[in-house]
Parts: sequence; structure tokens; C-alpha cells
Amino acid sequence: MTRKEALKLLMQYNQEDFHLKHAKTVEGVMRYFAKELGYGDEVEFWGQVGLLHDLDYEQFPEEHCVKSQELMRQHGLEERMIRATASHSYGICVDIKPEHEMEKVLFAVDELTGLIGAVALMRPSKSVDDLEVKSVKKKFKTPSFAAGCSRDVIQQGADMLGWELDDLIGRTILAMREGTLD
Ligand SMILES: [Fe+2]
Repeated sequence: MTRKEALKLLMQYNQEDFHLKHAKTVEGVMRYFAKELGYGDEVEFWGQVGLLHDLDYEQFPEEHCVKSQELMRQHGLEERMIRATASHSYGICVDIKPEHEMEKVLFAVDELTGLIGAVALMRPSKSVDDLEVKSVKKKFKTPSFAAGCSRDVIQQGADMLGWELDDLIGRTILAMREGTLD
């Protein structure tokens, strides 16, 4: 699958700007971590996993990560893509545990990118460029702020990776600074 085909598939099931932006944000972060963690030859795949991880969420929120597996099979996507995308709902909607480092990164950054994005919007710059880990940490500890971003999932993701929370936040900020593809 090319990136263009993946984007077309995404847009077949997603129209809302919020969902398209989230998909592209996670795509960019996944591409960054593929390079960062020594999977340079898998950048495209990691990116597509990020782009498509919430494929079913807009139209089938009640069947999240279950419906997406069905849709991806219909479209002939490879099993490792189906597995990797579905595993980000481990313990929530599915029982597919993140095993590969890529799956653990996806699990960890899905909610965290939402939190970091929300903290960045509070800044005069509205940007991640001058955002510091401590600002995110402070909001992490304020449950009422961006309450939809599960702190528990973020912490679980850090634990799966064996990274300190501060390290995960810092690296994800750097990843988000790289920006998104069109
Ligand atoms: Fe997501």
C-alpha cells in the first residue's frame, strides 16, 4: 500500500477535520519514532499504522478496533497492519496486546498527542515548538484538563515501552515538532 492509497482509505471512512488531523498527527509521530528507534526501512509502514489506527472510529465508535479489522480485511490490507492498528485499544475494546515496539509506541502516543496538542494550544504561540515537558507534566496531573486524554493509557504505554513518563513526553514533543504530511 502506498501512502496515497492509505490516505484515500482514511478519507473514505473519515470526513471530520478533527479525526483527519489526529490521524495525520499520529502518522507523523509514528514516522519520527520509526527513524528514532532504528526502523528506518519501516518508516512508511509505521506511518500508515498511525494514519489508519482509528479508521472505524468516526462511523463505528461502538465497534472501535473491531469494525476496523473487518474493513481492513475487506480492503485486503495485510494482517500485521490489522493487528498493529487494533492493538492500540488493548484492554479497552480488544484483547490484542501490543507486542512489537511499533505497537507499544502507537499505544503510548495516541492519547498523549491529544494532551500535548491541547497544552500547546494554551500557549501564545499555539505551537509545540516552544513547549516544555514540565508544562505537559503539570497538565498531566490535572485530570480536568483535556479530560478525554486518558492519563492511565499514557502511563501504561510508557510502562510497556519501559520509558520514564518524562522521556516519553519529551520524545513525543520532538516528534510532533517534525510536523505532519499533507
Ligand atoms: Fe487515535
